[in-house]
Amino acid sequence: MTFTESHSASHPEPQSPLWWQDAVIYQVYPRSFGDGDGDGVGDLAGLLTRLPYIASLGVDGIWMTPFQPSPQVDQGYDVSDYCGVDPLFGTMGQFDQLLDAAHTLGLRIFLDVVPNHCSSEHPLFQAAVAAGPGSPERAMFHFGNGPDGDTPPNNWQSVFGGSAWHRVNPGSDTDTEWYLHLFSPQQPDWNWRNPAVGDYFEDVLRFWFDMGVDGLRIDVAHALFKADGLPDAANANSVVDGLRSNPQVSDQEEVHEVYRRWRRVADSYSPGRVLVGEVNLDPRRAARYTRHDEMHQAFAFAFVKLGWDADAWAAVGTELEAARREHGAPPSWALENHDIVRSATRFGRGDRGFLRARAGLLAILGLPGGAFIYQGQELNLPEVDVPLDARVDPMWARGGVSRDGARVPLPWTVTPANTFGFSSDGAAEPWLPTPADWGTRSVEANLQDENSTLHLTIEALKLRKQLTEKEILSPGDGGTWRVDDGGLLTCQRGEQFLVAVAMGDEPARLPDGQVVLTSSPLTAEGLLPPDAAAWVLLR
Ligand code: GLC
Repeated sequence: MTFTESHSASHPEPQSPLWWQDAVIYQVYPRSFGDGDGDGVGDLAGLLTRLPYIASLGVDGIWMTPFQPSPQVDQGYDVSDYCGVDPLFGTMGQFDQLLDAAHTLGLRIFLDVVPNHCSSEHPLFQAAVAAGPGSPERAMFHFGNGPDGDTPPNNWQSVFGGSAWHRVNPGSDTDTEWYLHLFSPQQPDWNWRNPAVGDYFEDVLRFWFDMGVDGLRIDVAHALFKADGLPDAANANSVVDGLRSNPQVSDQEEVHEVYRRWRRVADSYSPGRVLVGEVNLDPRRAARYTRHDEMHQAFAFAFVKLGWDADAWAAVGTELEAARREHGAPPSWALENHDIVRSATRFGRGDRGFLRARAGLLAILGLPGGAFIYQGQELNLPEVDVPLDARVDPMWARGGVSRDGARVPLPWTVTPANTFGFSSDGAAEPWLPTPADWGTRSVEANLQDENSTLHLTIEALKLRKQLTEKEILSPGDGGTWRVDDGGLLTCQRGEQFLVAVAMGDEPARLPDGQVVLTSSPLTAEGLLPPDAAAWVLLR
């Protein structure tokens, strides 16, 4: 395969300090993107050779989920060394090469930083376990006891299921402490009330920024601080929900000071580095993380998981718009990531799901602000029903929910079965099994079909750039959301541009204007068919 067309020339100048405001970032899940060494797991070498493909989409950058050393209990979100590269993925030399190659292609690189927790194999956690109760080493984490050694300090539940506390040394009379893990027991939470933790992470940030990394996506950004004294949660049954709604577990006021500090660090570089947060809170609370001296952007999380529901899109869109007005930062739109069910499956069964996912992607690429595309979304991949015995997500084992179906290795070529160009010939089986029809959804198959979602994505991004250059689109645009009686959702952006999505059951009449792009052809009467989106230049 060759990817001859490069859009690098039209990327914003690296010096433009506000490039991030309307940036489109492609999320790479390195395990599943491209396997360079044939062990069945994606790696940096595999990503390096496929960078021209990403550039050919016309995106502004890449967010890479963690590739740092890790026992891989939570597929890399259990980091044992924040400043290295896991040999599973390659070497620091290869990362350096990747960074250079990306920059040459006009692509920025965002890394994932995981500051809420580390791996239980992190040397500082190991030292804490060894040092015993009352030690300064343990004060880097949350160790403690309930009223007696047999109960943990409070009633919190882990996001992945079960208690959020693990007894460090079961059976010991002298060390009866438990430690806190909002996720798996192999992911102990840092104690951010200890200033040494903040200093440690400042060094981590500087390490990557010094190397030339352009920005960071901050994992579970709202949960670093827990309520002082770790009181019981009101909603004891669910920390998943509690991370959003239990004031004891997340969104503590103190966390904002962390991002003010990180912003000062990011701004001290030239060009300035960019912070994007996974802030899974309602729009008003999330927007407080993007005040002018904190992060640059936060994912529009309230939007990410919505179903195909015009009223819900309009309500959340309107709330996000109000939050933007209050705090100034445009939202970062997304419909998919490695944690949630692919939109083609989430939005409906069969063809309707696929049509809606295409429409959803075209819609978010037209909304005011930044946008994230998850690898494979441009191929309109569905969620895979991974066989039970092949599932590896720790959430599956502990909580009965599997995120594996959104993480299956990407199909690049129509054949050969199993690897579909993800690995080279003779390689080991992919780390998650690929479905038999994966080749029909591959990059190769999409390139051959002029109506494919891949072509639509490329066209949308090209047009987005042209309209921005002509100042028809501006990152500062507001969005006005409406739903008409027939279920046509619209978001008017600025004076001249409108995104429409037909979410009702009948073809919909579009507002007067020039239709510049649609996800499905208009009907013979010029109406937008159900499950389709359009971009309209208003008259
Ligand atoms: C974030 C990641 C998810 C991970 C969790 C714990 O939500 O996106 O994949 O399991 O944090 O680190």
